Amino acid sequence: MAKMKFIVTAGPTREFIDPVRFLSNPSTGKMGFAVAAAAAKRGHDVVLVAGPVSLKTPKGVTRIDAVSARDMFAAVKSALPGADILVATAAVADWRSAACAAKKLKKREMSGVLRLVRNPDILKTVKGVKKVGFAAETNDVMSEARRKCRAKGLEFIVANDVTQKGCGFGTDTNRVTFLRKDGSVERLPMLTKAAVAGRIVRECEGLGL
Ligand code: PMT
Repeated sequence: MAKMKFIVTAGPTREFIDPVRFLSNPSTGKMGFAVAAAAAKRGHDVVLVAGPVSLKTPKGVTRIDAVSARDMFAAVKSALPGADILVATAAVADWRSAACAAKKLKKREMSGVLRLVRNPDILKTVKGVKKVGFAAETNDVMSEARRKCRAKGLEFIVANDVTQKGCGFGTDTNRVTFLRKDGSVERLPMLTKAAVAGRIVRECEGLGL
């Protein structure tokens, strides 16, 4: 098995409205840190780009911390030289506030203050590496995952239905489905995130880099 360089994104991003308030989501980074750990254990070089989470860096992994989607994008770009594959597990905020106030907004100033603008799509924009994505869905899981796989030019996408018990945000387990670009589908049973990560890394190794 050839040694590869992985870039893994993990965790949420935070999009600040003022110095004490932000838009975000419940991602804890567990899924992404498990992928980074599994890839390092298999002897690969791993750069882990982590949103704000409270997890220990896995052994043998180089970590870059990022707060916002734009920070995360810059960190991924800085890690691209020599990289073979990007595995994007992060729950990146698609939108940010058009402005971040310099001082804490007073309650009376809040009404109508939130105008949202799109964040860059990291996974879609990056070129020159093989790409693997995740889709956390509450409905139309497979059709949404298939659409994202195609739109972002992915080798495969890992779909998780976050309405299921033991799946998705913050859990130690996940039940996922691999959807490959050739249209094939593989449903995995409920597994620990470490085991799901192991399956993802082996699937990446089989991509023929
Ligand atoms: O961190 P945990 O608590 O362990 O939770 C794990 C998880 C639920 C966050 C993870 O398993 C997961 O599903 N992550 C993807 C979350 C998601 O909903 O992604 P998305 O559908 O918004 O985006 C699709 C893909 O594009 C993802 O690979 C995402 O990382 C990437 N993306 C999205 C938007 C954006 N601006 N840039 C991106 O790179």
